Amino acid sequence: MTAVAETTQTCSHLLGLEGLSARELNSILDQTEEFIPASLDAEKRRTDLKGKVVANLFFEPSTRTRISFGLAARRLGAETIDFSPSGSSLSKGESFIDTAKNLIALGVDAVVVRHSTPGTPHLLAKHINVPILNAGDGAHEHPTQGLLDVFTIRQVKGKVAGLTVALVGDIAHSRVARSNIHALITLGAKVIVCGPPTLVPKEVKQLGVEIDCDLDRVLPRCDVVNVLRIQFERQRSGLFPSIQEYFRLFGMTQERVKRSRPDMLLLAPGPINRGIELTPEVADGPNSAILKQVTNGLAVRMAVLYRLLLRKG
Ligand code: CP
Repeated sequence: MTAVAETTQTCSHLLGLEGLSARELNSILDQTEEFIPASLDAEKRRTDLKGKVVANLFFEPSTRTRISFGLAARRLGAETIDFSPSGSSLSKGESFIDTAKNLIALGVDAVVVRHSTPGTPHLLAKHINVPILNAGDGAHEHPTQGLLDVFTIRQVKGKVAGLTVALVGDIAHSRVARSNIHALITLGAKVIVCGPPTLVPKEVKQLGVEIDCDLDRVLPRCDVVNVLRIQFERQRSGLFPSIQEYFRLFGMTQERVKRSRPDMLLLAPGPINRGIELTPEVADGPNSAILKQVTNGLAVRMAVLYRLLLRKG
């Protein structure tokens, strides 16, 4: 796996999907297939990472990413450390980098990090000589979410190239959108981004996507619709009139599912806000693969930990 940052270190990291080639992406997706049996059945746990220690450093809340990275490491035989900023010596003035260096001194072999500041994993990679895995850095990237999204698309649709994928909602503040765009475009999909104009930066076009802010016009063209969460925690106020207005224009309802292709695949990275980005009927309906994405996330994270810790990628 290629480092996606300037670094003076010798090990590889997963800092983002930008810059990964189609060959590298497909190799990770193929390896994910290999880990599906062990991800679905604890009886099939493996021992590839026996003797390794993986640290989870989450400076932002998480359910799926944090739990599945921990489970993935243990399912491969590694030990795990769950670091919480609250209650740590960060509150006594110890720096972030010194904290990480102390974890390495305790024998940590890989660091999974989520932080609200874009570039935090890249900074760590410059100071720490073990693999760094980005679990989400601000609005920049969320590479394992991008990987599990394209893996789920490939699993359900049998391919990625040639498909049309809509990313709907808060594009401006979404690290999931950026990782999806990099992977999907590299793998030959067409990407349409759709949301309130205030949440769809014009510059995103430079990444090779089409912008269309009319969801009802976009839906009939799509094989896949990925519904993104409104990132209230990253927004200044006033970017759209009200939640009701947002839901009227961009909420995925049964009526909008009917306007879509019958085999439209509905994705959402989670957490989902029922009644804001989509209705409960759509979230739990036959087009939805939302929980399949979560299940696939375990195998994806097993694959990337395996590749980075054993230098197999
Ligand atoms: N999709 C995702 O990153 O979910 P969590 O924030 O719960 O990890």
